[in-house]
Amino acid sequence: MSTLKAVRGTRDLLPPETALWNRIEATARSVFGRYNFGEIRTPIFEDTSLFARGVGEETDIVSKEMYTWEDRARAQSEKSQMLTLRPENTAGVVRAYIEHKLGETGQLQKLYYIGPQFRRERPQKGRYRQFFQVGAEVIGPQSAGSESPLRDAEVLEMLATLLDELGITGWMLHLNSVGSSADRERYNQALREALVPVQDKMCVDCQRRAVTNPLRVLDCKVPEDQPIIETLPKIADSLDEESKEHFAAVTAALDAAGVPYTRNYRLVRGLDYYTRTTFEFTHGGLGAQNALLGGGRYDGLSEAIGGPKAPGIGFAIGLDRLVLTLQSQAGDAPVAAVKVDAYIAPMADAKDAEKLKTINAAGLALARELRRAGLSIELGEGSFRLKKSFDAADKTARRIVILGEDELQSGILTVKDFSSGVQTKVPRAELAALLAG
Ligand code: HAM
Repeated sequence: MSTLKAVRGTRDLLPPETALWNRIEATARSVFGRYNFGEIRTPIFEDTSLFARGVGEETDIVSKEMYTWEDRARAQSEKSQMLTLRPENTAGVVRAYIEHKLGETGQLQKLYYIGPQFRRERPQKGRYRQFFQVGAEVIGPQSAGSESPLRDAEVLEMLATLLDELGITGWMLHLNSVGSSADRERYNQALREALVPVQDKMCVDCQRRAVTNPLRVLDCKVPEDQPIIETLPKIADSLDEESKEHFAAVTAALDAAGVPYTRNYRLVRGLDYYTRTTFEFTHGGLGAQNALLGGGRYDGLSEAIGGPKAPGIGFAIGLDRLVLTLQSQAGDAPVAAVKVDAYIAPMADAKDAEKLKTINAAGLALARELRRAGLSIELGEGSFRLKKSFDAADKTARRIVILGEDELQSGILTVKDFSSGVQTKVPRAELAALLAG
């Protein structure tokens, strides 16, 4: 029988690497807390039409990459339904905002999430079919200031703070405005016209995009196409006054806060809900998949999925890519496992079943006492020989505590500290204090 493996594009995360994931998540929660964001957890699967209407039928995500299935009715009272594993979380958050009438509070909703997302993409370094995002959304009625460029700048400033606190060096913020949907319509038209005389000199993908979705030409990475793309009209020239002013206010606030950015006219993003500000943070250490995170404003998303007007802005960080970046910065040194405070080695004659049972039980009782005192403890096994216990202890713990029959009777335990090599005898009542030092 062939051995079963994790499905292509998915992977297991194991200790000690998971400690790094936990550290990143804890830092994100701490930073988000300081900006007054609360956590939201939405379901991992949703009605397929949420993504079709929210993210956009024409996008790669919806047209090619979703895991969708028919959930057949199990009872007369139920209807069959098309369901999809969420490829991203913004649509789910906005659905929840509408469903729970969060707009009626009159307040801005500041929500963050951490969780898995699913896209059937071609797997490669930094690109998986199940990946993790840490994201946040600021959404609310216009009267709560949800459209203010200050919100855009604050979200970007928060991201800069988070990356700095995580110790990510050398990130770059690419910033653009894709304007209102009318601006985009105008720009699409301008691009379509500009592409007519040049498209047959471009790659086959661009020839197709020139007809179906001219905006996507800007994503092209084929080197020969780049000089042609540089000559195409820029979206900045299609923005109306309002969009221009909004963008100018975002950059002015970033300048005032000292957050560095570069204007990237080609940043149009692959999801249809964006309006006005769009952004990505990239990192050189990531290779081809260099976007650490992406986001932007989505002033019409709520209405697109049947809700009230609720402008918003948000982002999602690729957690897998954040981990890769921190690992590449640390060089190839593997993440060191953290050692526990002590290893308890119960010791008894392995051939004497009664004694073994007694000493193992005493070992568990001692471990319980120490763990409840806040210490991290690894518990050994009474049948191990002394050398085996020492070897196991040395790999996992800073010290070994010997618990043999003599120790059990006298209440005096032997502790050896591996870093100093010092061996001490200590009364049981003083053990926790010694190990806490
Ligand atoms: P996105 O650009 O599709 O935006 O994804 C955000 C980030 O998720 C990417 O920059 C990347 O780091 C990571 N990511 C995307 N696909 C994969 C993959 N297959 N494997 C590993 N990492 C991946 C969104 O998802 C929007 N919902 C962001 C947003 C929130 N916009 C407004 N609010």
